[in-house]
Amino acid sequence: MKTYRSFYKPLAIGAPTPFAEPPVALERMIHFVPPHIEKMRAKIPQIISQVDVILGNLEDAIPADEKLNAREGFIQMANENDYGSTKLWTRINSLESPWVLDDITEIVTRCGNKLDVIMLPKVNGPWDIHYLDQLLAQLEAKAGVTKPIQIHAILETAEGVNNVEAIATASPRMHGMSLGPADLAASRGMKTTRVGGGHPDYQVLADADGDAPRTRYQQDLWHYTVAKMVDACLAAGIKPFYGPFGDFSDPAACEAQFRNSFLMGCLGTWTLHPSQIGIAKSVFSPEPEEVKFARRILEAMPDGTGAVMLDGKMQDDATWKQAKVICDLADLVIS
Ligand code: GLV
Ligand code: MG
Repeated sequence: MKTYRSFYKPLAIGAPTPFAEPPVALERMIHFVPPHIEKMRAKIPQIISQVDVILGNLEDAIPADEKLNAREGFIQMANENDYGSTKLWTRINSLESPWVLDDITEIVTRCGNKLDVIMLPKVNGPWDIHYLDQLLAQLEAKAGVTKPIQIHAILETAEGVNNVEAIATASPRMHGMSLGPADLAASRGMKTTRVGGGHPDYQVLADADGDAPRTRYQQDLWHYTVAKMVDACLAAGIKPFYGPFGDFSDPAACEAQFRNSFLMGCLGTWTLHPSQIGIAKSVFSPEPEEVKFARRILEAMPDGTGAVMLDGKMQDDATWKQAKVICDLADLVIS
């Protein structure tokens, strides 16, 4: 069984984990489904075969008067299907909501053994993770859950971004973190109505060149937060993910946003529409040409030390490590 060493080193803070290290699995897309819709639940077996992770969403986008149906629908879809190697996650309601306590209690009690990860929205600090961690420990023991349920935080409040490092190390149950650009934009007072992606007005103006019209370059609104999240996650040995991209009519922009986050260290993204599954699969799997070159680096430096030239480019211990990241991911995609 493969393990991805760097992602599962022991955490510095919190009780030592009582659990075995989880095996490494691809998580290129976390595919969201609304479990209160019967027609959607009927499609689950078909979706399972196409995605790495399937997530029953109970939080935002589920109307208040459908919250209980969504919870019941999730428990039903968890128990009725065989997920094979596809992971099953749920996004519960936020800790400020009236639904969350029953979400956690009912789900762990009635389908805890089918569930891999709970995604917790609007995490403000480590205290939110501690609360869920303790509740899970009690409920797992009571319900006889044999496999620990992991926690995935959404980074989507200004306070959460401020506390990102403490959140990442808050519990040995921490699986990873996703950017939540829609709530984060609102929390920060950003002037946008978009879910992820760029904004046409967020630009830098190139220097003047005589009378020629000046070029404008659109910038990435999310660069700072993704970089901060990736550093916090990798330092804590957990996994960083991009989040939602809401403009389903613009697959090129979706791909560009996914690719930036992949290059910056994210392992996967959310897919909210079936059309985004293929985009995520291709973006978060390494390019064959890149893999070929990375394999040449590993072959040229069998013990990972020294310096060699390949196609005019200097390789050394550091590029060996870069190549190893790409080759390990490629091996996971192939296996
Ligand atoms: C996701 O939950 C977001 O707010 O972007
Ligand atoms: Mg949100």
